[in-house]
Amino acid sequence: MIEVQNGIFGLHGKDFSCLLRVNDYGLLEQLHFGPAVQTADAPAFFCRSGLGWGESVLLKEGDTASCPDVLPLAFSVPGRGDYRESPIELAGSPADLRYHSHRILEGELSMESGLPQAHGAQQTLVITLAQEGLELELCFSLFPDALTRRCILKNTSDRPLVLTKLMSMMVDLPGDYEMTTFDGGWIAEMRKHRLPVLDSRVVNESTTGFSSHRHNPGFLLSAPGATEDSGPVYGFNLVYSGNHYASAQRSLQGLTRVMQGIGPSSFAKTLAPGRIFETPEAVLCYSDRGFGGLSERMHRFVQAHIIPPYWRERPRPVLYNSWEGCMFDFNRRRLLSLASQAKKLGCELFVLDDGWFGARNSDTAGLGDYNVNLKKLPGGLKKLSEKIKALGMDFGLWFEPESVNPDSDLYRSHPDWALTDQFEPLLGRNQLLLDLSREEVQDYLVENVSKILDQAEISYVKWDMNRHSVALGAKAHDYILGLYRVLERIFRPRPQILLESCSSGGNRFDLGMLCYGPQIWCSDNTDPIERLTIQENLSYLYPQSTFGAHVSASPHAQTLRATPLCTRGNVSFFGCLGYELDLDHLLKIERQEIQAQIEFYKLHRMAFQFGTFRRLKKGWQVSREGITLAAVFRRLVAAAPAWERLELKGLDRNKRYRLRSRPQRLRIGQFGSLVKHVAPVNLDPNGFVLRTADRHFTLPDGAQELCASGSALMAGTVLLPLFRGTGYDQNQRTLTDFGSELFIIEEEPNHAEPG
Ligand code: GLA
Repeated sequence: MIEVQNGIFGLHGKDFSCLLRVNDYGLLEQLHFGPAVQTADAPAFFCRSGLGWGESVLLKEGDTASCPDVLPLAFSVPGRGDYRESPIELAGSPADLRYHSHRILEGELSMESGLPQAHGAQQTLVITLAQEGLELELCFSLFPDALTRRCILKNTSDRPLVLTKLMSMMVDLPGDYEMTTFDGGWIAEMRKHRLPVLDSRVVNESTTGFSSHRHNPGFLLSAPGATEDSGPVYGFNLVYSGNHYASAQRSLQGLTRVMQGIGPSSFAKTLAPGRIFETPEAVLCYSDRGFGGLSERMHRFVQAHIIPPYWRERPRPVLYNSWEGCMFDFNRRRLLSLASQAKKLGCELFVLDDGWFGARNSDTAGLGDYNVNLKKLPGGLKKLSEKIKALGMDFGLWFEPESVNPDSDLYRSHPDWALTDQFEPLLGRNQLLLDLSREEVQDYLVENVSKILDQAEISYVKWDMNRHSVALGAKAHDYILGLYRVLERIFRPRPQILLESCSSGGNRFDLGMLCYGPQIWCSDNTDPIERLTIQENLSYLYPQSTFGAHVSASPHAQTLRATPLCTRGNVSFFGCLGYELDLDHLLKIERQEIQAQIEFYKLHRMAFQFGTFRRLKKGWQVSREGITLAAVFRRLVAAAPAWERLELKGLDRNKRYRLRSRPQRLRIGQFGSLVKHVAPVNLDPNGFVLRTADRHFTLPDGAQELCASGSALMAGTVLLPLFRGTGYDQNQRTLTDFGSELFIIEEEPNHAEPG
């Protein structure tokens, strides 16, 4: 609900409020953003004028309440007394934007520039600030779990105006905070870093032209001492896929100024008279229930207001992807053999990754071309997709439309379509970016991708992008607008196509891309132990239904780490499950295990994909409709391990639950030469007998089952003892390095107490 009372604006979501007021000088004060309060509480948040601020600039001599440098503001300008960082820059000249008017709309104010935005706002407050020749609309859209903000700048003068910075939001928060950012690189996405916000500016910024895995646009601000389950935490994100910028800095008065928007580095827009510039939408979220509470809110917001409506709560298929198993080396026969094996395992969608078109037999050629490679795929995609359909699976296809290899027909005929500067072109993965700001390039992509989508039955698209350009410069924003136009034109008429975006893994994991496709490939690193970090850190800001999570081969290609198949499954369950490995090389026991994994996942798919996700001390849990699934993950084994406890969250204290572990089995080979101590004969661990036994036999591992109240389960259930070097016993858990365990917790049907 948005209320307006005597120059005070009260925006009240579910358990949070934002209070603003226009002061006597027309500045917009940020009175409060945090726990729910009443609009009538506003005066309690006023900054009282005191004895003055010494050398500070006042808007009115003698009135210390007119000192912009010390007030908590919701927007500010440079050069007029507020010397903290400004959210706007007009080619270095000062501005003096003051309150002009406001209006309240039902729902959201639609974007005019084609930027994606959150849908389903309850109401939007538009406050217009103005000065001669300039108008700035500040839009505040209210959602149950979040507030979004954006700006629209209008040149009302008769001269062109050069804009070099315009943030989507700015907020001054009282108190000290720590800023958590998510940084990284290829195969090392989402490394979490936390820094205290002091008097020097802390910046989270991307300058590659894209939201980037170097610095995800989403970040958190938490009060020192906030924990997973308690304390104030703010979450911020941007519905945008290009360069972004966010900063936080504490002032002498103890206000932390936070802002977020398009990255100003190399940004410049010339606005002709009468023209407007829209910023992307920033998302602001608050919880006083710690990081966990914040994530729950962000997840609900993304599920309900960001991802395309067709895919909200729509179950995602279990897929098989050809990339890690085949790379570029396949033909139709091989694909069909993989598809029929994948089908037997339970997969529902077969995805043909890179290598199906032009001269694309390696990553050095062919990008930009769309002619299907008929040598590899006689009969084309239509024939292949029909065969896959006939096997009972859906068919999906990889594209990388934004890039071009210099060795391609497209580049040979349109070299000027590639983005370059005046120097010798620099290649990234042997490719250049196409200039998506140009209409003819947009048309080429829309036409060619659409033609392929319509020539075969394609129900899934992996939209990849592997060139992270340095040549975008001032074009960066127009490129992103061009990309959104292309995505809009291809996928809005085909909402039923499941679009998974990807950029060398998670190099463009952002809310902008999620407005077009509901899931994103988190990382080319599918090592489950690495994924524990990547998926867990994504979970701070993004729901698990947005994670493409695949089981791949062990030892893993990126780390050479060997991990148990159960752990690879248990990690990928907490996302949109897929398999990406050479199925020809699976042992029968592995096939059986994968079959069981997929069957189990399908049974609990809605909970895994859309349940309430919670981070536990050593694992994760999801809960939905009375069922909780929790996994505990282990890194390295320690000798004589301490008792392990599983502390569940979010259960009903008074209900009774049945907890059981999902059966897991141990490979005999894990015991190596120890087997000779229990076998009647001295068996060589590298000999034929043990090697054969390892391929065929497994042993049950520590299954457990118990009933307890929600209260007890949340206090911490003691798990079965771990292997202690005293021999195998099926009533202990023999988890090796990188082992894991999954538990199913179900409400017990109500039964009357005996009288
Ligand atoms: C990128 C993607 C991979 C795969 C390859 C194909 O690296 O992240 O998943 O699609 O491209 O070339």
